[in-house]
Amino acid sequence: MQFQISNRLSGVHGSAIRELFKLGADPNMISFGGGNPSAETFPCAEIEQIVTEVLQKAPVSMLQYGLSEGYMPLRETMKRYLAAQEGFDFEKNELFIVSGGQQCADLTTKALVNEGDIVLTEEPAFVGCLNTFRSYGAKLVGIPMQKDGMDVDALEAALKAHPEAKLLYTIPSFQNPTGITTTQEKRKKVYELACRYDIVILEDNPYGELRFAGENVPTIKSMDTEGRVIYAGSFSKVMAPAFRLGFLVFDKALTMPLTVAKQTTDVHSNVLFQYVCDTYMNQYDFAAHLEQSRKIYRAKCQLMLDTMRRTFHPAVQFGQPEGGLFVMAFLPDGMDAQPFVREAIKRGVLCVPGSAFLADESKVSNGFRLNYSTPTDEQIVRGIEILGKLTHEWIKE
Ligand SMILES: Cc1ncc(COP(=O)(O)O)c(C=O)c1O
Repeated sequence: MQFQISNRLSGVHGSAIRELFKLGADPNMISFGGGNPSAETFPCAEIEQIVTEVLQKAPVSMLQYGLSEGYMPLRETMKRYLAAQEGFDFEKNELFIVSGGQQCADLTTKALVNEGDIVLTEEPAFVGCLNTFRSYGAKLVGIPMQKDGMDVDALEAALKAHPEAKLLYTIPSFQNPTGITTTQEKRKKVYELACRYDIVILEDNPYGELRFAGENVPTIKSMDTEGRVIYAGSFSKVMAPAFRLGFLVFDKALTMPLTVAKQTTDVHSNVLFQYVCDTYMNQYDFAAHLEQSRKIYRAKCQLMLDTMRRTFHPAVQFGQPEGGLFVMAFLPDGMDAQPFVREAIKRGVLCVPGSAFLADESKVSNGFRLNYSTPTDEQIVRGIEILGKLTHEWIKE
């Protein structure tokens, strides 16, 4: 059978990172390539207890079809939580529980973006969501990242050049892949420009709870008086990614189209795990659980950065993440990180070339992304030492 793949999908390549995962499965490979939360953070015993009890007490309600908008008690819990933590206004906004942060991007695109529409995105940015936009036939226009967030002059130029652009995608806290946190000033400027040029912002914040250094910076959604920010959150990095649960906060005017988008995608999200999240947040010590995760990531990140400082060629640049799971290192300007990464893989260390995260994947990137949440401390030191040696071989004085 010869299949004619749809226009929407034929331009989308499988995620380069998922392909690399196959190499990461090699037990001898030290992998800085993934983006998994540390298994040490999973509250296994508590999950087991909650599931066992509810399946004895109320099995049918856990196993029956659920509501498309999400399990009502969890929606209420999350509204209270986000109103208290982020100052979100649920008089004007609605919250749905969806199947992971990735589905936030999927439903938003399905509801708002037509084939051929332009989506502006930070560049580099999380390839999973870039591929979601691509899969709906959107054309991506990248806005370069700087050390303090996206280049707002480039953003304004892009908004002028593409007044019909539908969506602006940003990951302001502990960005994947760079680890950069957008400053409050830049967040305000991004919001101001979005208002002036009338574009919807998709604020993707799966790592927001994982700040392990520095001061909290308000979300863009918390500044939103016009209802133009759609906020994407996830339980993947604070509970477990296999739950496939996230939450979408949006202006009430979008309730009907997003309900239809959800119903036509997967009807509803996993009820049992929504119950687990709700019970965990209300009856267990969620704050202590987050603090414990932050402690783990703080230590792992510090170990990786210390080892990078000790072993990398001084011409390699990298920032100091204040949270999240990633740091990106940059070879000197003009160098291509792809052959560097290929050589690193040959030497048993996996990381991801920056080109995987570009709006235009054919462009060259001198960056490579390193994940510190999954490797052991010993692997972090050994793997970074191997990469460090390679940077000295690669960069000619
Ligand atoms: C920036 C960003 N957004 C969204 C996601 C999707 O996460 P999930 O669908 O597991 O919630 C990820 C996952 O790594 C991510 O890094």
